Amino acid sequence: MSAVITPNEMQQKAIDILKGQVMLLAGPGTGKTFTVIHRIEKMLADGIEPSSILCLTYSDAAANEMRQRLIKKMGVIASSVDIYTYHSFCNDIIKTNPSQFDLSMNVRVINDTEKISLMKECIDEVKPQYFAPPRGDRYYFTKNFVGHIEKLKARRINKEEYLERIETNPTLMPRLKELESEIYEREQQGETRNKGRYQEVEKIKSNIERAKELWALYEAYSEKMILNSLIDFSDMINFVLDEFEKDAAFLREVSNKYTYFLVDEYQDTNDLQNAIIFNLVDANKEKNIFVVGDDDQIIYGFQGARIDTIENFLDKYPDTQVICLQENNRSTQSILDFSYSVITQDKTRLENNPRFKDKNVSKKLTASNKKISEQNKKVRMFHFGEALQETNHIVDDVKALIDSDNCPKNDDGERDLSKISIITKKRAELQMYAEMLKGKNIPIQIDDGRSIFSIRSSILIYFYLKAMTNKIYADDKLFGLLLAEPFKINLEDYNKILKEKQLFRTDIPNDFISLMEAMNDWKDEERIQNFLKTYYDLKEYASNNSLRNTIIEILNRTGILVTFHKELKNKMENLMGIKKFIDEATDFEKINRTASLVDFVRYLDDCLINEIDITTDKNPIIQNAVQLTTYHGSKGREFDFVYLPNLISKNWEDFSMPGEYRLITDEVLDKETELKRKDSELLKLLFVGITRAKHTLTISFSDMNNGKANQITKYLTGFAGYDFDKQTFEYQEGDFVNEFVRSISRDVYDNKQAFLNEIKERVKNTVLSPSRMNDYLSCPRKFYYTKILNIDMEDGDWDNANFGTLMHELLEKAVRTAKDRGKYPELSDIMKDFNIGINGTRFTSEAKKEQFERLGKQALESYYPHFIQIPVERIEDIELNFYGVEVDGNLITGQIDRIEKNNDGTYSLYDYKTGVPVPAGQVAVGGYKEGYYNQLCFYKYAYEKLSGKKVSQVGIIYIEEHQRSVYKNFDSSDMEYIENLIKETYKNIKALNFDPIPEDENGPCRFCAYKQLCRLDVL
Ligand SMILES: Nc1ncnc2c1ncn2[C@@H]1O[C@H](COP(=O)(O)OP(=O)(O)OP(=O)(O)O)[C@@H](O)[C@H]1O
Ligand SMILES: [Mg+2]
Repeated sequence: MSAVITPNEMQQKAIDILKGQVMLLAGPGTGKTFTVIHRIEKMLADGIEPSSILCLTYSDAAANEMRQRLIKKMGVIASSVDIYTYHSFCNDIIKTNPSQFDLSMNVRVINDTEKISLMKECIDEVKPQYFAPPRGDRYYFTKNFVGHIEKLKARRINKEEYLERIETNPTLMPRLKELESEIYEREQQGETRNKGRYQEVEKIKSNIERAKELWALYEAYSEKMILNSLIDFSDMINFVLDEFEKDAAFLREVSNKYTYFLVDEYQDTNDLQNAIIFNLVDANKEKNIFVVGDDDQIIYGFQGARIDTIENFLDKYPDTQVICLQENNRSTQSILDFSYSVITQDKTRLENNPRFKDKNVSKKLTASNKKISEQNKKVRMFHFGEALQETNHIVDDVKALIDSDNCPKNDDGERDLSKISIITKKRAELQMYAEMLKGKNIPIQIDDGRSIFSIRSSILIYFYLKAMTNKIYADDKLFGLLLAEPFKINLEDYNKILKEKQLFRTDIPNDFISLMEAMNDWKDEERIQNFLKTYYDLKEYASNNSLRNTIIEILNRTGILVTFHKELKNKMENLMGIKKFIDEATDFEKINRTASLVDFVRYLDDCLINEIDITTDKNPIIQNAVQLTTYHGSKGREFDFVYLPNLISKNWEDFSMPGEYRLITDEVLDKETELKRKDSELLKLLFVGITRAKHTLTISFSDMNNGKANQITKYLTGFAGYDFDKQTFEYQEGDFVNEFVRSISRDVYDNKQAFLNEIKERVKNTVLSPSRMNDYLSCPRKFYYTKILNIDMEDGDWDNANFGTLMHELLEKAVRTAKDRGKYPELSDIMKDFNIGINGTRFTSEAKKEQFERLGKQALESYYPHFIQIPVERIEDIELNFYGVEVDGNLITGQIDRIEKNNDGTYSLYDYKTGVPVPAGQVAVGGYKEGYYNQLCFYKYAYEKLSGKKVSQVGIIYIEEHQRSVYKNFDSSDMEYIENLIKETYKNIKALNFDPIPEDENGPCRFCAYKQLCRLDVL
């Protein structure tokens, strides 16, 4: 175990000043995040009410990590601290105050393809004249426009302000006037050489018009979003801000729920996020806010973060105590000195700003972590002749490190590869390193998902869908499809089809499928016939079934799922690709209720054409693998060994990439010129990368890439004489072939081990909820497929599940409205929501929809009188998510639908269920619904442990037949039972015990979607 770390003097000072406004302004690795966490710990230890603390942070991952750390240290009490990202905070406010936000039940978050198609409509309407796109393609800037409009939104700027900026921005109107008067004067004096000035005048005029056109697009786009009930992430924040500004009482109520505000990575908050903070603090009785940040690490400028954020805070709260930390606990002195030399090239830094001089802000850091500083080495600077040589060398270097005694270790003394990182500017560079490291048998983890169009399994599904929807234009797809697993027809047969195709027969269409049907005498008849039969069966299936089920049927019938489950190579990636495909189809169907397979394929095509990536989910778990991340993704993290390769100008200073077109918003919005801003932003990005390293930093560049000359980025040209550990690697003409061979030479990758490692890591991070536990108990193998591999195919009754979700949402909203207003909504109001909701829910058929509409109405009518009988004050909570209850060192989690406070001070917990009621006797050990019994026990157990309150009753409320609801009074033997069950389940999962329940006629296998997969026994 590592020793307990205690805060240093300045950190302690920052921790102790609880009242008023405090800003911790300090460089990287000085323990800002550490101080935030310690401050919360201290507050909890001092008995401060956890729910009076609000901590805002920049990403879900960061919020999760903070929560986990606090719970580990402080126990369940820490789970009541509100730790949010800005979006999740606003989303929660909207959800818990339904009557304040009159949003339609059908409102939903816009996706990337919808953004593009909305913007295209706007372009057609607004017809921008001043953007001259290449080759007259008027949609050329579509994606750019979307990006810039999102920037405008993040600025929360209105039309007057925007136009005002055009008038006052030094590069626009003022410059135009200046030029015009210059020209006038010169002409008066007889000077005729004014061509350059005239040109600039034209350019500025055009810029001004473009700025105006962008605003017109912005307005059109916003209108369309409202019209289509679409919102984006900025809107969520905007809605909350609108209400805050309109309704002071509401703002006061939200704000005064808290007494302490904490914000991490304050420098990267944009105007919208900042407005949330300012509103909350201004309306607060105590105004205690603690922000931590580093002006040298503003790297989210493209999302609206700005250099003056920190200054604005100080302007707004002039009494702010600024505390600066100068002891760095992360890195060696040589890394710190190097980083300082890099960042001081930026002249816009706050350190140079006179008003910070008297605050004693110094960003020159001293290495103070003994263990790290002992390893003081110079920064390694590698200079290569060729880019391929560079990659080869770095991969070899990583491998040598891992094989040596210097390989970093974790607390248990095992080799820990996650302490090694390669950080690059572009994602494509990461992919290259990923491939090469894997070729050397080194496990890697990339910080983001992969496009489904680049993963073999999902490409196959896509091809299959293409062929199913239009066989005529699918030759290229079938070409690949027929030759790859699992279809893999005989090569001779394949040639035969190709020959036939060249004949251009006139009697039948000339596509692969029609030809295959018309021909005979195959080498491997069975495969061909099987392919055709499957193809037609699935087409038939698709016409009668939901999109999601069709995809699942394709996976099963074609054998794609089984194939990739059997294949060890890139197994996890392939499974994630399959999972994403199912998820995407499910989402698509939710949004487009009448969607057919053809629509879905068109959507996929659109994504491909518009370069909108559908990527597999990020893997949130840090694995024992070399971490490959972009500079942006490395924010807040740290690694023992950091490699920063490819530090060349082309990579760092060339902005002419498509998709990053400079339009005009930046000039309108910012006073600084674009270039200066870019320089400053890139220096900061590089600085962030450098300061991730604890003790060994390796930077590198090469002179050539594929025969083209490279040069070191201008941000490092001044370092020619710097005291690096410098190594130059000679490169001769003929070396390319050698390097190339080296780059493709591969060891035998131990796919099995890599896969097992990932499974172990996932298992380690599994947190049991009642449903997860029941899943495991019902069939460990199925649990493995759905909860560990995440290919959730569980089909069940989709209509019923959707109906259930809708009823839960309605009741939640009704209770929240009741708590919000102190009185229950009328039945007619709930019915209104029900109607909107049911129309926004997808059912497999019209008949099903009618059935559930009837059921729902009946249920609400009969349940309503009971529902409103419980006084609002007695409802303690609804849809309460709990995390962090600990059992035997493991955490458990869950969501309790309804919590009531009884007159005797005890509590009752209820779970809402739809569907046919089950007699109370079956909700018991050995009963037909043992799972329900487990679930109820679990809730009582967790809630009592979590809150210290006493639960006297638990129950299941059957919404449709309320009178048949089940109520239970559990005693200590039930609690003992559940505690053991949880322990036992955890033990089994951790031992990787995923044996299937033996198959029998009526057992769980009967309706299991994984049946075939399971029979192969390829676990
Ligand atoms: N007082 C301390 N004694 C020992 N180690 C410390 C102390 N304070 C912080 N650390 C360690 O120093 C490292 C850096 O801390 P932390 O990540 O909080 O820095 P930061 O200022 O938030 O950095 P960044 O700007 O990169 O987000 C962590 O490993 C942390 O555990
Ligand atoms: Mg930090």
